[in-house]
Amino acid sequence: MQQQGAFILVCRGQALGNNGSNMEKLSEANATEIERLLEEVWPEAIEYPKEWRNARMIDRNKIVDEMKSGLHYFGIRANGKIVGLYKAGITGDVIMGEHQSVHPDYRRLGLAEAMYEQFIKFAKEIGCKKVLVNVLPSQVASTKIVKRLGFVKIKEYEQIPGMLVHLYELSL
Ligand SMILES: CC(C)(COP(=O)(O)OP(=O)(O)OC[C@H]1O[C@@H](n2cnc3c(N)ncnc32)[C@H](O)[C@@H]1OP(=O)(O)O)[C@@H](O)C(=O)NCCC(=O)NCCS
Repeated sequence: MQQQGAFILVCRGQALGNNGSNMEKLSEANATEIERLLEEVWPEAIEYPKEWRNARMIDRNKIVDEMKSGLHYFGIRANGKIVGLYKAGITGDVIMGEHQSVHPDYRRLGLAEAMYEQFIKFAKEIGCKKVLVNVLPSQVASTKIVKRLGFVKIKEYEQIPGMLVHLYELSL
C-alpha cells in the first residue's frame, strides 16, 4: 500500500479518494497535462512499433479536437497530478476503450485495472451493450486484466501493418 498525497490512497488493485473514487472525466482544461503524460508513457512502450508509439503522442490541439468530436477522456490522479488515463468512443450501444496510459512511476499499483472497472461501470450507466478493446498480445498487464474481467477475444487483426492485436469484447 502506498500513500500518494493528502487525499488519495492508492492500494494494490484499487484506487480510492475521499469520495470513493479518484477517477475523473477530463476536459479541455486538462489537455496540456494529458499531452505531457502521453510524452512520458509512449516513448518507453517499446513493445509497440515506433510508428504507433509516435501516433499515441498526440498534442493538446488534437486532444481538444478529439474531445470536441465526442471522445471521452477519463483520468486518475495521484499527488494532484494525472498519472493514468484512457479514452472511450461510443458508436450506438458499443463503447471502445483505447490509449490507456499509466505513468511509469505508478505502474503495478492496480491503476489500469481500476480504470477498466470504471470504464465498464460508465458503459453500463450510459446503456452500452458491448465493450471493446484492442490489446497487443504481448501486453501482459492488459491481457491479464481483460481476461480477469470476463472479456472474450473475438478477432485477431493488424491494427496497422505489422502490428497484430487481439480485439476483446465484453457483453453487458
Ligand atoms: C499497460 C499499463 C496500462 C498497465 O498499467 P498498470 O497500472 O501498471 O497495471 P495494473 O497495475 O492494473 O496491473 C494489472 C496486472 O498486470 C500486472 N502487470 C503490470 N505490469 C506488468 C508487466 N510489465 N509485466 C507483467 N505483469 C504486469 C500486474 O502485476 C497486475 O497483475 P496482478 O493483479 O495479477 O498482480 C501500463 O503498463 C502502461 O501504461 N503501459 C504503456 C502503454 C500501454 O501499453 N497501454 C496499453 C493499452 S493501449
